[in-house]
Amino acid sequence: SIISSHNMLKKAQKEQYAIPAFNIHNLETMQVIVETVAECQSPVILAGTPGTYSYAGTENIIAIANELSRKHNVPLAVHLDHHEEFNDITNKINAGVRSVMIDGSHFPFDENIALVKRVVDYAHRYDVSVEAELGRLGGVEDDLVVDAKDALYTNPQQAIEFVKKTNIDSLAIAIGTAHGMYKSEPKLDFERLSEIRSVVDIPLVLHGASGVPDKDVRECIKRGICKVNVATELKIAFSDALKQYFIENPDANDPRHYMKPAKAAMKEIVKKIITTCGCAGKL
Ligand code: 13P
Ligand code: ZN
Ligand code: NA
Repeated sequence: SIISSHNMLKKAQKEQYAIPAFNIHNLETMQVIVETVAECQSPVILAGTPGTYSYAGTENIIAIANELSRKHNVPLAVHLDHHEEFNDITNKINAGVRSVMIDGSHFPFDENIALVKRVVDYAHRYDVSVEAELGRLGGVEDDLVVDAKDALYTNPQQAIEFVKKTNIDSLAIAIGTAHGMYKSEPKLDFERLSEIRSVVDIPLVLHGASGVPDKDVRECIKRGICKVNVATELKIAFSDALKQYFIENPDANDPRHYMKPAKAAMKEIVKKIITTCGCAGKL
């Protein structure tokens, strides 16, 4: 079945592990993730940006998720990642999505609150969980490009007010991670994370986890992160293996053959993240 991420995040928070949110793009990426989480008996969030839903088709994603969930006997949180439009979100809730992120992080504080609250009021009527972001991540995610100078760390005092006024289920924070890979190792503000954790009691979300050393992700989980977002590392593993296959087999043209090594390479990253998150066996 397709479920909200509320309960899985609450359980992760209580037991101090994290739920991986893997960005999906098509049938193959969904197959790899669901097969692997079933093998590991791990809870999971399948995330798609607006670009992904329009590329693959919302109904297609829902239908594939339903079938994979049935086949592998794992509940799936099909999640809207970095969605910004109220009507887009409500349409996708009506199509069957039960977990959403409303990203108003580019708006001034009060406007962010107003937009998020409007989404929460709608979503909670349908038992849909809502994540929102305070502060702003740098880097590139789909059409979302944020210059390093426009990235903003989350203010703990604002976080208290934000959570109270919006009634969100989880909070995405900015502590020095960025979307995409890093030119040099990112320096995370662990102190800030702990401070936010001490004043906010809902699950906290780490975006931009690709390229963050495993030990740092684990430190974040120890300090209160309950959801870890990974997109870029999966894309790189998949496409690098695909490129290598075509270098070795320049005449290949059968997707049933050339998709295989790409899926296998992606599976290794999925397993690595599950290990880092400590979520195996937590289904
Ligand atoms: P990465 O680009 O670091 O994988 O971040 C993914 C993410 O935050 C998706 O919301
Ligand atoms: Zn993100
Ligand atoms: Na990243």
